[in-house]
Amino acid sequence: MTGIGLVGTGYWGKNHARNWKEMLKEGVIDKLVFCDIDIERAKELAGEGVGYTDSYQELLDDLEIHAIDIVTPSNTHYPIGKEALYAGKDIFVEKPLTMNSAEARDIVKIAESENRIIGVGHIFRYHPGIQKVKRMIDSGELGRIYYMFTNRMAFASPRKDMGVMYALGVHELDLYCYLLGVKYPRNARITKGTFLQPGIEEFADILMEFDDNISGYAVESWMSPFDKKMRVFTIIGSEKSVRVDYMKHDEIEVFNGKITGDLGSHNDPVLVDGEVEIVKIEKAEPLKAELMDFVSCIGTRNQPLADMYSGMRAVEMVEKCLNNECFRPD
Ligand SMILES: NC(=O)c1ccc[n+]([C@@H]2O[C@H](COP(=O)([O-])OP(=O)(O)OC[C@H]3O[C@@H](n4cnc5c(N)ncnc54)[C@H](O)[C@@H]3O)[C@@H](O)[C@H]2O)c1
Repeated sequence: MTGIGLVGTGYWGKNHARNWKEMLKEGVIDKLVFCDIDIERAKELAGEGVGYTDSYQELLDDLEIHAIDIVTPSNTHYPIGKEALYAGKDIFVEKPLTMNSAEARDIVKIAESENRIIGVGHIFRYHPGIQKVKRMIDSGELGRIYYMFTNRMAFASPRKDMGVMYALGVHELDLYCYLLGVKYPRNARITKGTFLQPGIEEFADILMEFDDNISGYAVESWMSPFDKKMRVFTIIGSEKSVRVDYMKHDEIEVFNGKITGDLGSHNDPVLVDGEVEIVKIEKAEPLKAELMDFVSCIGTRNQPLADMYSGMRAVEMVEKCLNNECFRPD
């Protein structure tokens, strides 16, 4: 039996609300309460069978609520999360886990000492296309990985609480490490542009270097009028390459040509052209998959796929990039 309290029913919280209501109906959870300081918003989303309040303290005092889902502005994740952990609740925290690495390390320490689970909203780990790519990398189907890139562009009002690095870049820094099975890149650096609000970058180019001469880059922008919402990930391998359009939850593109040759080899590099195949994958909503994983971990006490350690490292990486700090000085 699992009771969930959702704190924050704003722009993104309403999607959490919709999925939690579905899971309540399906019997995955058996109690649900929405909380927002704007109680009208919580009330409107709650509807029948869901409680609502404007005080998260009420959720912390409720013994039938086992976990708190925090979808409030990012600078409140740390104080709300900390209180919830000390109140004996597991927590799901939207990304970024916190707004600086000291808080991220502290919240992880608290969760460890209180024996609590933290799930983090690194939603793209749960995208069915990315899950397929991960299986293809791990099985060797893509061959040697050369590089990965992402275009994450939109024409949207910039957030006031953080720039594109904490809002968007955090996804790529986490995801590339996840795909390659490493904790951090060897190094990462950014170029960024801040045009409208001090301290809030509207675009950033991220360059990541990994071991084995693998590289990754990403363009993150809120100021791209030609791409209303473009979110495309590409990975280039020697045997196959794959493109995932994050807006599509049921297919990926696979390029079956080969790219062979490597530094140090005496053979000429060979590019063998091939077909681009649309490969159908099982459709799944990433947000639902991530919340389902979290609920399952509340029961099993296992770490979720997007666990607190990856959430902490992602914040550390964004911070280092913004401060122009070297990752691994070797
Ligand atoms: N994973 C993703 O793809 C994704 C997408 C968008 C946003 N997010 C994250 O979700 C979080 C929320 O973003 P948003 O765009 O929904 O913000 P928002 O401002 O639209 O919503 C935040 C909500 O929290 C409420 N709130 C604030 N303080 C509160 C408190 N102390 N108690 C109860 N309610 C409180 C506000 O009234 C508001 O309704 C951010 O951390 C953001 O980074 C993640």
